[in-house]
Amino acid sequence: MGKYIIAGNWKMNKLPSETYDFVKEVAKATEGAKCEVVCCTPYVCLAEAVRAAEGTHVKIGAENLHFEDKGAYTGEVSADMLKDIKVDYVIIGHSERRQYFAETDETVNLKVKKALEKGLIPILCVGESLEEREAGITMDLIAIQIKKAFAGIEAEDAKKVVIAYEPIWAIGTGKTATAEQAEEVCKGIRDIIGQLYCPKCAAEYTIQYGGSMNAANAEELLGKDNIDGGLIGGASLKSEDFAKIVFSVK
Ligand code: PGA
Repeated sequence: MGKYIIAGNWKMNKLPSETYDFVKEVAKATEGAKCEVVCCTPYVCLAEAVRAAEGTHVKIGAENLHFEDKGAYTGEVSADMLKDIKVDYVIIGHSERRQYFAETDETVNLKVKKALEKGLIPILCVGESLEEREAGITMDLIAIQIKKAFAGIEAEDAKKVVIAYEPIWAIGTGKTATAEQAEEVCKGIRDIIGQLYCPKCAAEYTIQYGGSMNAANAEELLGKDNIDGGLIGGASLKSEDFAKIVFSVK
């Protein structure tokens, strides 16, 4: 299946002054990893993170970007700004941004397109709430999120997008989706991609699971056929925990 990627999502944690040492720690703890290792950090930590990752295997990502190139958008950060400081990845459409910052499927689509245009690798997040799961509409909802996020994106570009399946009810709650639940949806996502583009190329996409993934459950989740990595919140804040997840990719 796709290339394995384990990405940390620091969210609004860690200070710029802690960043250099911590990224160095992650680089050391994950040396010899059999997957891509990414730290996604707050904007103010990015420059230090990039400096620390230089010459190591660790890649750095942002947690958001704006879809316009430049202009009067107080408080926002553009793709060019991220590229300028040598950021490689950017998380787009995280459920916390959809929930608290009015991110919509439309802005997610604009951001994915902008990231691709500027040569950033988007980590596109999709996922259902507990009510949606209980109503039995998980796959319908995720199909809509995926189709809207990929609207107007050509096949050649589309396969650069990393997709993270993150059930909202499993994020930061300690409640992980079972490996079977996660696999079922990740396979469903691959099928949707296959329908949108071509069934054969769907195998090349990296589809991650995220939501309370940790050192104890990573191996089972990552052992599933359609789970090619993880987007890790809480467990990415301690280098030993994060490294255990990284080394669960065999
Ligand atoms: P969590 O967060 O690992 O703390 O559940 C995952 C995420 O929101 O990306």
